[in-house]
Amino acid sequence: MKALYPGSFDPITNGHLDVIKRITPIFGEVIIAVLNNNEKSNTIPLKDRLELIKESTKGMKNISVESFTGLTVVYAKSRNANVIVRGLRAPSDFEYELEMSQINYFLSNGLETLFIMTNPAYSFIRSSRVKEVIELGGDVKELVPTPVYKYLYEKIDLKK
Ligand code: PNS
Repeated sequence: MKALYPGSFDPITNGHLDVIKRITPIFGEVIIAVLNNNEKSNTIPLKDRLELIKESTKGMKNISVESFTGLTVVYAKSRNANVIVRGLRAPSDFEYELEMSQINYFLSNGLETLFIMTNPAYSFIRSSRVKEVIELGGDVKELVPTPVYKYLYEKIDLKK
């Protein structure tokens, strides 16, 4: 089975990484699909988001890191993915994810979305919060993979 794990990954966090580690043995093959939406709402350029995921997943087998534009389900079909996977952190995620999985099912004529519950140790982490913490002078060392930590502090001035 091939699973597509789509997202913005702006940047990848330890929560995302935990999902990737847990779903790979279940599905056998996982495509991490990064949405390329012309950088409109992202802090980190697509090229760097891809590179950070690659560095953060180095040594992990049976995963690929790719970018896509347009509808997730169209990309999933083009890559012969059998299923879309999303992580659920808290009940507040549910409403958005429910709608998204239903529109995706409708648009694709039946591609299923399966959900994995986030490890409670990571359930409060979201990419936007990580960036906010850095902006306000806090430390996110334990919330993101080491390459992301280095990148955020060295390369990006989030205050701009
Ligand atoms: O990490 P995110 O930002 O929660 O990921 C959201 C993502 C990329 C999975 C979602 O925005 C998406 O699938 N976008 C592509 C466009 C699409 O297929 N939308 C659903 C039907 S309108």
